[in-house]
Order: sequence, then C-alpha cells, then structure tokens
Amino acid sequence: MTAIHRKVWFRLRQGLMGSFITKPQPKPLVFVGPGSTRQLCQAIARFGLRRILVVTDKPLRELGVLDGALQALQEAGVETAIYDGVLPDPTEQLVDDGIDCYHREGCDSVLAFGGGSSIDAAKVIALGAANGCKTDACIGANKCKLPAVPFYAVPTTAGTGSEATFIAVISNNETHEKGAVVDPSLIPKAAALDPEIMRGLPAHITAATGMDALTHAIESYIGRWETDETNYYGLAACRLIFDNLAAACRDGSDLQARESMALASHYGGLAITNALVGYVHAISHNLGAKYGIPHGLGNAMVLPHILELLKEDATDKLSDIAVYCGMGERSESKQALARKLIDRVWELNKEIGIPLTSDKIREEDIDALVSAAIAEGGTYPSPRFISEAECRTLLHSIKA
Ligand SMILES: [Fe+2]
Repeated sequence: MTAIHRKVWFRLRQGLMGSFITKPQPKPLVFVGPGSTRQLCQAIARFGLRRILVVTDKPLRELGVLDGALQALQEAGVETAIYDGVLPDPTEQLVDDGIDCYHREGCDSVLAFGGGSSIDAAKVIALGAANGCKTDACIGANKCKLPAVPFYAVPTTAGTGSEATFIAVISNNETHEKGAVVDPSLIPKAAALDPEIMRGLPAHITAATGMDALTHAIESYIGRWETDETNYYGLAACRLIFDNLAAACRDGSDLQARESMALASHYGGLAITNALVGYVHAISHNLGAKYGIPHGLGNAMVLPHILELLKEDATDKLSDIAVYCGMGERSESKQALARKLIDRVWELNKEIGIPLTSDKIREEDIDALVSAAIAEGGTYPSPRFISEAECRTLLHSIKA
C-alpha cells in the first residue's frame, strides 16, 4: 500500500470509528471536594449494595490511604473485601485473580481506589465478574453480553481521567502487548474527586500525571472528532491545568490546586471518551511499552514537539486555547497566539521539572518505535498525519 492509499484507508476507518465512538456516552455521578470519598461511600450504601470489592495496590493500602473509605463504608453498613494485587500496567492474570477474589468473597459491587492502573483493573474485574468470564473474553469492543456489576471509583492521581472513560487497557501476560476493553458499562456509576486523598502524591508524579491530563485536553480539542461538548471539557481542563498544576507540584497540601487538577483530569477523561487522543499518545504508549517510561512523563516530553509539528494545521484551535487560558487577546494574530500556547507548554514542563530527554531511548530501537508509533497514530483523529521522518526527528530530539 502506498503512503497515499494508507492515508485514505486510515481516514475512511477513522470516519467509521468516529460515527460509532462520538455518540453521547453515560457519565458518572461525581462527588467533588474534601470529604467526597465519604459521600461516595454513603451513596454506595444507599444504592442498596452490601459487600463491595475494593481494588487497589499494596503501597496505597499500607500507607493507610484507604482507611477513611473502609471506615465510611463500614459505618454505612457496606461490608468490604480487598484485592490489593494491582501493579502498573495490569496484566490479564492480575485481573483474573481479581475476578476470582470477587466471586470467592461473595461481592455484589466493585470500588476502584488508586491511579489509572487500579481503575482499569477494577473496570475489567467488574465486567468479567458480571459475565462469569476471564479477562481474555472481555478484550475488544462490546465483547460481553451483560453490563459490569455496579462499579465506583476514587482516583488517587489527577491525570488519566479513567474514572470518566469506557476503556480499560490490560497487558497480555506473556507478550505484554496492550489490549483495550471497550464497553459503555465500564463508566463508573459514581466517582469521588477528593483532593484530601491526593495530598501525599509526590511532586514528580503530580507533574507527570497532570501533563497526561493536559495532553488529553489538547489532543481532544485539536483532533477531528471534537464536538461542542468535548471542546467545552477540553478548554476547561486546559485552563484549570495552566492555573493549578505548578501550584499542586510546589505544595501537595494545596487542596484548592489539588481539587482543580482532579476536575481537570476528569474533564480530560470526558473529552477523550468521544474525541480520542493523537500522536502524543501514540509515541508515549510505545515508549512506555519498550522502556517502561511512565505514561504521563512520556506525554509530557512529547507534547510540545507534536504541537510544534502541528502548529500550522491546528492554528485556530491552538489560538482558541491560548485566548481561553488568558495568554493573549483575540486581536492578536492566530499564529502569535498559537506560539504563545506552545511556549507556555514548554515553560510549564520546565517549571514542574519534566526532563527534556530520556536516557532510556536507544538508537537501535528508533526504527521500530517509529513504525509502531506511526501505525498507532494513524488510527487517531489527528489534525494531520505525521510522517516517519518527522517522528524519527522527534525521537532523536528526546533521546539523551
Ligand atoms: Fe493519557
């Protein structure tokens, strides 16, 4: 297939996918602010649920971050069982163990408590538990007959927005290739955006996850599947992040900044649910798969480079973001406004300590990384296709 044929094929496929995915999706009931975890737990009791499986990771459990939620559930009359086996980039086996735990403990619902990995694992545990199946039967789009069991989420990082999306990413046990589970019932019934829970998050994780949220906001806004609704969430997320991310990194106990970042992450999740992402994610996913570079960090390093590449194709949208975020006036040229936005992204990265390069990237891997990133990026509704040469130059720019 020639490059032109490939582009036509990708655009046709994007059009078909877009007509499916850009339909309105359900949204979780959201409790926001300090103490919202307790409100969520009380709501779970009022939904008539009696025994909930809390899905989390061992460090969070050992740090006692769950304790308030467990106590609130108990006081509200909801029994708890805990599955704390979640690790970064959860595998099918890890999720299967969670499904077994759900059945063994006689649960009727699932509460995700953690970052994106815990929320993704909990989503598929809830879906597999409802359908009496293992994870491999859930991989793909709408593979299961029954909706997930009642599922709730308390995100402990502000970045993935996974509590707002109907997608979960699970890795194959042997190959570690990532598979997506897509099902509308993966959107939780309710979630708590509780800045108290995020108070102890280290600055470097706050920075990287926050840049993941900014990437969701910008990629959804400049992409071809944007709608009035996704634009609304994308712009709101951008402003919250430019106004609050540095403050949240400087002082983790700044609850106003933490709450704003939690909201921004949620809005970013709502935006990408319909408008998807772009080449920043395509490259970052492959850096993560090859070297274990954390998703947010990969996005943060790649985002300004992709904006430089797309600045002539997305000038109007980039200038909109700049004006909405108070970086300039409508009377200025769109090119000047787009420049201000991109410069601000570079500055924010510097301010919050995101490195310009990574010493994990090896010259001998670059060809394979380019091929994989270009193939994945072609499935996203980016303003334009990025060439292999552009992708190769970008990877050389972030290679130490
Ligand atoms: Fe992301």
